[in-house]
Amino acid sequence: MKSCKSLLLALTATVAVLLPASHAAAADANKIGDFALLDQHGKFHQLSWYDDQKAVVIFIQGNGCPIVRNGAPTLKALRDEYESKGVAFFMLNPQTQDNRASIAGEAEEFAYDFPILVDESQLVAEALGVDRTSEVFVIDPKTMSVLFRGPIDDRLGYESQKPEAKNHYLKDALDAVLAGQAVAAVDVEAPGCLIGFPAREKHLENPVSYTDDIAPLLVEKCTACHHDGGIAPWSMSDHAMVQGWSKMMKEVLMTRRMPPGQIDPHVGKPIADVVEITPAQLQTLVHWIDDGARIEDGAEDPLAGLTFDNPKWTLGEPDIVLKVPAQSLPATGLVDYRYVPVELNLDRDIWVRAVEFVPGDEKALHHVIAYLSSPADKTAGSRDDDADRDESIAGFAPGRQPDQSRDNSGRLISKGSNLLLQMHYTTYGKETVDETEVGLYVLDELPEHVMSGGVAGQRRFMIPAHAKEYQLEGVQRIERDAYLYGMTPHMHYRGKYMSFTAEYPDGSSEVLLSVPKYDFNWQFNYQLREPLFLPAGTRLVARGAMDNSAQNRFNPDPTKPVLFGLQTKHEMFFGFTTLRYVGDTPQSRTGAAQAGDDGVAGL
Ligand code: HEC
Repeated sequence: MKSCKSLLLALTATVAVLLPASHAAAADANKIGDFALLDQHGKFHQLSWYDDQKAVVIFIQGNGCPIVRNGAPTLKALRDEYESKGVAFFMLNPQTQDNRASIAGEAEEFAYDFPILVDESQLVAEALGVDRTSEVFVIDPKTMSVLFRGPIDDRLGYESQKPEAKNHYLKDALDAVLAGQAVAAVDVEAPGCLIGFPAREKHLENPVSYTDDIAPLLVEKCTACHHDGGIAPWSMSDHAMVQGWSKMMKEVLMTRRMPPGQIDPHVGKPIADVVEITPAQLQTLVHWIDDGARIEDGAEDPLAGLTFDNPKWTLGEPDIVLKVPAQSLPATGLVDYRYVPVELNLDRDIWVRAVEFVPGDEKALHHVIAYLSSPADKTAGSRDDDADRDESIAGFAPGRQPDQSRDNSGRLISKGSNLLLQMHYTTYGKETVDETEVGLYVLDELPEHVMSGGVAGQRRFMIPAHAKEYQLEGVQRIERDAYLYGMTPHMHYRGKYMSFTAEYPDGSSEVLLSVPKYDFNWQFNYQLREPLFLPAGTRLVARGAMDNSAQNRFNPDPTKPVLFGLQTKHEMFFGFTTLRYVGDTPQSRTGAAQAGDDGVAGL
């Protein structure tokens, strides 16, 4: 209690100054808008996903605050009573002095078995108009408006702790919501520890500058796609465009939809080319948007002067260009995955350093995965067919960099091989024909090393109808010393999340990558900045889950169980990997392949 009390005394003057500001925000704060945050375990939660619940309860947690610690058991008791009636319970920590690890530690020590949303940017707390911990909010997840805010009950105060509460504010509010009645507002301040909002204060004092802060940030994080002729549907071509789209920008930032391909920044190895937004950058953008998204009077617009060239092939003219047979598409409806064979007609083995796709109709082409069907596959009965038959050699999705082999390595495409393209299209209101091209960049000389594809996958599953989080796991065993270069989670419409963990032969393990919100619109190939050595005997484990419920907006049919399969109505659970096995050289590879074939033939 002491710390809160002295904090309160010390800050009484500040409270008086702060309250009007937060109350001004509160007029608007009844509707808070959708948002998404990771919890203390790195799990993704989005408010709108809970819209099958009658209410969402959010209790403001802060480490070290005695009122929070004392209130938690009451919150648990209420959760035990109301969870089965359609109320979801969360804690939310907006304190700048806490972080995921310390929050997880506090949760462990005080047995908070709630997901604790870590509001690093404090933007959700600001939207709620929070100023103290221990306050509780009841939110209608359908309208995203606040139905109740206040203390859980009147048992806890700064001066006293009563044995029993007289007023059970939260319980009364939940009963009213469940009975479909209006919630009575309580005119009681929730006791709790005051929370500082340094970024908000800084930006109130020193408003964010469009020319100095925002425009450079948009160039760094967004305009690679959002420019004229770029892959995004609207261009950040000048201030007027950005200002017009600013409310929508706030929504996609708050729900973590943009920039696409986000990973959990608190775990894993450094990844190249992934666009991350830090909490401070989020605050800058959102505070500027909330403040009217204005440009300074008379300032020159940095975005207006930018030019982008959109070369057909970003890697230059390829050595081999393959034309994918034309694909006719209807104006509307779901189009099943198409499996399109592309003949290579190679008269020799080739070593490829990169593969690039140029979509014919980029509005329709959603993604492509190119599988290599090598002639050896037919005879390779002794090999792990899971790993080999699914060797994906390259992929395309909007925003994905062309696949390139690094460190003087290449991938072998042997004579007689063909490509099998899994092509996924989305219709957009107009019939169209897609004529995609594939460019192969062939090495003139043998590379020093061989790049290989692998997969940590699972094919034997049945996802029950309506399952909200059906967990799956796939393992790739690393039989020989290798270096890992890249990882690509691949699931269909029901994919929810996926992570990759290396379990080393010495018993230790580490998470390499976590994609907390898988979005099948984006098929990213996450490249490790530094290749990672995996000693023989390592297990690469892909862990993830499927959401086959109606809460998953992409789900074509939540009433049916789903099996593994190639079509969109089926599911896949593949963690594709790119690796280089130590000692795997072009010479050893061609030699080994022959030896292997002979071996099989001799059986
Ligand atoms: C890798 C490419 C890429 C990057 C980087 C990117 N966007 Fe997008 N953005 C897209 C595409 C493609 C769409 C349309 C498809 C979709 O909504 O997923 C889009 C859609 C949007 C929309 C419209 C959403 C809607 O529902 O219509 C907004 C707003 C937006 N982006 C904002 C941003 C902001 C802000 C950034 C930078 C912080 C950003 N984007 C970065 C590719 C990108």
